[in-house]
Amino acid sequence: MFRDKGCGTVRESDIGSTMKLAGWVFRRRDHGGLIFVDVRDRSGIVQVVFSPDVSADAHRSAHDLRAEYVIAVEGEVRRRPEGTENPSLSTGMAELYARTLTVLNESSPLPFPMEEAAEASEALRLKHRYLDLRRPELQHNLIVRHKVCKVVRDYLDEQGFLEIETPMLTKSTPEGARDYLVPSRLNPGHFYALPQSPQLFKQILMTAGMDRYFQIVKCFRDEDLRADRQPEFTQVDMEMSFMDREEVISLIEGMLQGIFGKTIGVAVGTPFPRLSYRESMERFGNDKPDLRFGLELKDMADLAQQGSFKVFLDALSSGGRVKAINGPGMAGLSRKEIDLLTEEAQSFGAKGLAWIKVKNGFESPIAKFFPEEVMRRMAERLEASEGDLMLFVADREKVVHDVLSRMRLELGKRLQLVEPGFRFVWITDFPLFEWDEEEGRFQAMHHPFTAPFDEDGEKLSAVHAPDSPQLGEIKAKAYDIVLNGYEIGGGSIRIHRRDVQKKMFEVLGIPDEEARAKFGFLLDALEYGAPPHGGIALGLDRLVMLMVGASSIRDVIAFPKTQKAVCLMSGAPSPVEPKQLRDLHIKTNLPL
Ligand code: AMO
Ligand code: AMP
Repeated sequence: MFRDKGCGTVRESDIGSTMKLAGWVFRRRDHGGLIFVDVRDRSGIVQVVFSPDVSADAHRSAHDLRAEYVIAVEGEVRRRPEGTENPSLSTGMAELYARTLTVLNESSPLPFPMEEAAEASEALRLKHRYLDLRRPELQHNLIVRHKVCKVVRDYLDEQGFLEIETPMLTKSTPEGARDYLVPSRLNPGHFYALPQSPQLFKQILMTAGMDRYFQIVKCFRDEDLRADRQPEFTQVDMEMSFMDREEVISLIEGMLQGIFGKTIGVAVGTPFPRLSYRESMERFGNDKPDLRFGLELKDMADLAQQGSFKVFLDALSSGGRVKAINGPGMAGLSRKEIDLLTEEAQSFGAKGLAWIKVKNGFESPIAKFFPEEVMRRMAERLEASEGDLMLFVADREKVVHDVLSRMRLELGKRLQLVEPGFRFVWITDFPLFEWDEEEGRFQAMHHPFTAPFDEDGEKLSAVHAPDSPQLGEIKAKAYDIVLNGYEIGGGSIRIHRRDVQKKMFEVLGIPDEEARAKFGFLLDALEYGAPPHGGIALGLDRLVMLMVGASSIRDVIAFPKTQKAVCLMSGAPSPVEPKQLRDLHIKTNLPL
């Protein structure tokens, strides 16, 4: 037997007993007579003392211990002398006086000191992820992740869900990103796609009468990566038969309540607030609002009309918008600082950033274009008071919302307005279709299996072309769940009737043959009595990231990839042997 218990689990009640412990050498301090070694395992850290009075042998060997040696010790647990307790350690009242020391394994000198691992470059940490993962912070993150999965499985099991696996080697799914392709050796020139999500399969499971499905599943998307996006990530994926939107929403609220309560002890109140997509866009400029602070966007069109600032008037007359946010206490910014802010807005896509200081009246290069009374009403609308800075963007609606939503987040952070805690919000009533500027037509906003509002069915029937403006008015039975400004999940009630599905493809301008080639197996299944169904997928990595307060999902994934989709530890992706390519009938036009 290597050990009696985990290093971090030694308690006051163990004082006086003799036990074996094993773990890694974290810190070693040589105090002449006594050698103190902090020994660490997943459960925590314990102080081991080597004294020549207890064992001359062990004391001698302890001299040779180096960082991250793996050791086993045996000895008596004693109370630490008064004044040397360490309240920041769960074991801080005790220490083990070693009678024996066994070195189970040595370690080469480390690429970075473990104590300062958090400050090492991320590239270095990812390359030596086995060391990085020894850090208590990362171990904690993975423990929380494990617990979340357990709560999810228990909750969904209680609710009558079955966990069912779906294929990883499959056909392209319609989530809209680029696929990761896998060549088929047995079928030259044919490729599998790794699933972007199990969307089609879970709908087929409903048609197959499985009633309630879930899966904690890897999804693969070849898209531009960010702190909250990985090429492979995990969904808590669910689909349910005979359930409407309200039932799905309350089931998920119950699940999230359980997750937060049982893993990090945070009480989450339900029901969560809801915002329609339109309202979220108007008030926050995006569909994943961070509700932990205010600084809402306000429409300024009517007031802008009462002035003569050409930039504003031009934007409005060409169908654009003029909106603004308030920067509390920012009137003190210098010209130079405002220029920097303007550059920032420009980097987000704005042509410029107009501003008015509320400072002994109003101070602004555009003040001359507005009667005092109008500026007063602007300030009133923005709830701006003496010392504040009003910031305006005039442009196409999309640009105005993009820029101001990002400025809002930036100011929220900079002015430290973000309150601690967890603010959930459902975004509902999404448009079914989204205008595609490049293609000059509408596309499905989620995927083409999302059901329209019942009352919009007729509008849909009346449309025959993908550029009909009426398509923009049709609403979808889709919902996203947002937490602290992150989309942590999304789903919808699906189309379960063939005629509606056919109509969908017709208005999307997807010809029959194409629909058949892409999703034929789902369309076939819909022919044979599909029940009404719907579902949702939660982004597990994002959820856990927010729960543990990490700034990137890389910190909650054991072996993440970089922004360039590279695994620095394994070296994937990598070139392969020419023979492997020959077997797959693949030639690259790159030198191997
Ligand atoms: P969607 O595409 O919205 O829906 O994905 C669901 C959730 O998965 C998370 N997510 C990601 N997390 C990390 N890295 C990524 N690259 C990434 N992409 C998405 C997000 C998102 O909310 N089949 C539908 C669900 C359904 O309709 O039931 C789907 O995949 O948190
Ligand atoms: P200009 O008329 O170009 O000198 O701009 C006057 C002010 O309006 C400057 O502060 C610009 O940053 C700002 N501005 C320019 N274009 C826009 C725009 N589209 N929206 C908001 N402010 C703008």
